[in-house]
Amino acid sequence: MGDTFFDVVASRRSIREFLPDPVPADVLERCLEAARMAPSTSNIQPWEYVIIRSPEARAEANGVCFNQRGTASAPLLVAVVAHMDTWKRTSRHILDTLEGRGILRKSQTQYWGRHVPIIYTWGPLGLFGLLKKAYGRLGSLLRPTPNLMNRSDVRAMIHKSTALSAATFMLALRAEGYDSCPMEGFDPWRAKRLLGLGRRAEVCMFLAVGKRGPKAIWWERILVPRDWSVREI
Ligand SMILES: Cc1cc2nc3c(=O)[nH]c(=O)nc-3n(C[C@H](O)[C@H](O)[C@H](O)COP(=O)(O)O)c2cc1C
Repeated sequence: MGDTFFDVVASRRSIREFLPDPVPADVLERCLEAARMAPSTSNIQPWEYVIIRSPEARAEANGVCFNQRGTASAPLLVAVVAHMDTWKRTSRHILDTLEGRGILRKSQTQYWGRHVPIIYTWGPLGLFGLLKKAYGRLGSLLRPTPNLMNRSDVRAMIHKSTALSAATFMLALRAEGYDSCPMEGFDPWRAKRLLGLGRRAEVCMFLAVGKRGPKAIWWERILVPRDWSVREI
């Protein structure tokens, strides 16, 4: 593998068979640091990386992921969680940090203090969310209007940011000479129970992590034609 960014991107593949070599703590730490720097909506950083260490939890997690080949052989399994309610403490943290740096502006207090809470609130039975959504849709007929979100919009939004962080983590692993397999194939309810997640958190994906084994890649990369993925207007 070369070491340019593009070599790293091209050599990342989803690995279905891992060598038993453990992932060194310093490698994992650098990759987590990279993942933490990913962009996120309103800088809310809604992700949480749960490193599955205990053998009991690992055995259960393998089952939750249907003992897929990637999961079973990986020396390390990580759950990437998306949180819908950590925006409160993050907003506070951002405002406190800006204040501590002596650069807090009124517009920022308004943004994280008033605007963000409205974005992330959908109210009992989701009614406030529906109202917001309808108001936003009507407004959009008249002028460009932000997406005034209901619960499912918020859910999509936090999963977007979390997946970007997970992608950064996977590319960082590749840059360190390690591999991964992202997994959507898991039981979401059992995954939540295993990780002790409440109503407002979901597993975005599991990541099997390690070094690729000899039968790691099933076939050469298959890409759809470029014009299915890219167009200009
Ligand atoms: C969100 C997501 C979920 C995925 N879930 C699974 C999975 O459950 N099991 C699996 O073997 N591969 C899974 N994959 C891997 C894809 O099959 C793989 O990325 C795709 O076939 C392209 O291959 P490549 O990653 O080697 O380029 C997932 C990928 C993503 C991004």
